[in-house]
Amino acid sequence: MKTKVGIIGGGPSGLLLSQLLHLKGIDNILLERHSRDYVLGRIRAGVLEHGFAELMREAQCGERMDREGEIHEGFYIAHDGARDRVDLHKYTGGNSVVVYGQTELTRDLYEARDKMGGAVIHEAQDVTPHDLKSDAPYLTYRLGDEQHRIDCDYIIGADGFHGVSRKSIPKDVLKEYEKVYPFGWLGVLSRTKPVSPELIYAKHERGFALCSLRSQVLSRYYIQVPLTDSVEDWSDEAFWDELKMRLPQDVAEGLITGPSIEKSIAPLRSFVAEPMRYGNLFLAGDAAHIVPPTGARGLNSAASDIYYLYHALVDHYQNGDDAGLENYSAKALARVWKAQRFSWWMTTLLHTFPDSIDYDKRLQQTDLEYLFSSEAAQTSLAENYVGLPF
Ligand code: FAD
Ligand code: DHB
Repeated sequence: MKTKVGIIGGGPSGLLLSQLLHLKGIDNILLERHSRDYVLGRIRAGVLEHGFAELMREAQCGERMDREGEIHEGFYIAHDGARDRVDLHKYTGGNSVVVYGQTELTRDLYEARDKMGGAVIHEAQDVTPHDLKSDAPYLTYRLGDEQHRIDCDYIIGADGFHGVSRKSIPKDVLKEYEKVYPFGWLGVLSRTKPVSPELIYAKHERGFALCSLRSQVLSRYYIQVPLTDSVEDWSDEAFWDELKMRLPQDVAEGLITGPSIEKSIAPLRSFVAEPMRYGNLFLAGDAAHIVPPTGARGLNSAASDIYYLYHALVDHYQNGDDAGLENYSAKALARVWKAQRFSWWMTTLLHTFPDSIDYDKRLQQTDLEYLFSSEAAQTSLAENYVGLPF
């Protein structure tokens, strides 16, 4: 087989790029290791930047998002018995975020690919990129007992943190930066009315908690847990009891509980791999960078990579202009590092660190006091949360 762009990974990054390129008449084939049901069974992000939502519309995948997603113009930070609101709308000159689940967004992208007859190959095993430094890179993979080969101009590594793409870049070329946090987030999805129409990020001595939602009948809650905990350690009842203890009293009293329909633990990690290009391989999304979830930057950073790659590939194929491809790594990384800084800051501000000394705790308190006494500080938080310009 032959195509222009070979894409590894059928998560949001790979699917969005595949769809956008197809709409511009640029041939591509996408290889995904898992079945579609498996990919759609993962419950992950829920908050989309305005720029991401625009990209979904450009990909002709924004209809359900616009109908069912919720525009949020602010969120709360609960701390020290208080609940302060961050007014995104006011501090960004009218910007906001869209609350729409990654699962739904991925489903919309798959449906759009199906409708357009896009080449999406599921359960592709042993996907391997070859000859990345040559003008004729290719991919091999196995479907059942059959071996296949795809010759391409470019290969896009959109295969997440555990994918094969980043690992195919020689170690002496790639510089990896990593910070692992000593806790994870235990997340619960439940078919209950959300406790608050806007998200609540809660700092508490017992640990961080987050009240989020997917719709007015579907709630998503998280609590910080030690890395040694497993999902089996947490019955639904224990989860709700712990969540209530970490929320302001009036919020806890209004919490509607119910059976969990999904429960999982995600460890918190910051990670960046540089550069994001090696020969004709381009990394995008979690394949190149991970953030701790506080501040909802993960999926949004993936989307900004896709924005840059999409425009770079269109410039190459339609205008013979390679500047975008040449600059991709530097441009994407500049934004990625800002998302890293913001996620690290939000995580440090709101979590309970097992090894923190009294000095650190007073600084955390002071950071929050400063935040809500300074319009400049709230502007900084708001402009990062709604997403810096592409
Ligand atoms: P992925 O979604 O990881 O997709 C990569 C795809 O590549 C997968 O479908 C995988 O099966 C496939 N793949 C992997 N290896 C291969 C291979 N060798 N061959 C073929 N295919 C392969 N972000 C937030 O903003 N908020 C959150 O609350 C949040 N929660 C998260 C919870 C968890 C448990 C995780 C892991 C991430 C979370 N994130 C969150 C981050 C966000 O979900 C990711 O940033 C986003 O999924 C990145 O999309 P992606 O397409 O780059 O990677
Ligand atoms: C969600 C996750 C986040 O990390 C975040 O900051 C906000 C919302 C969510 O899953 O709903």
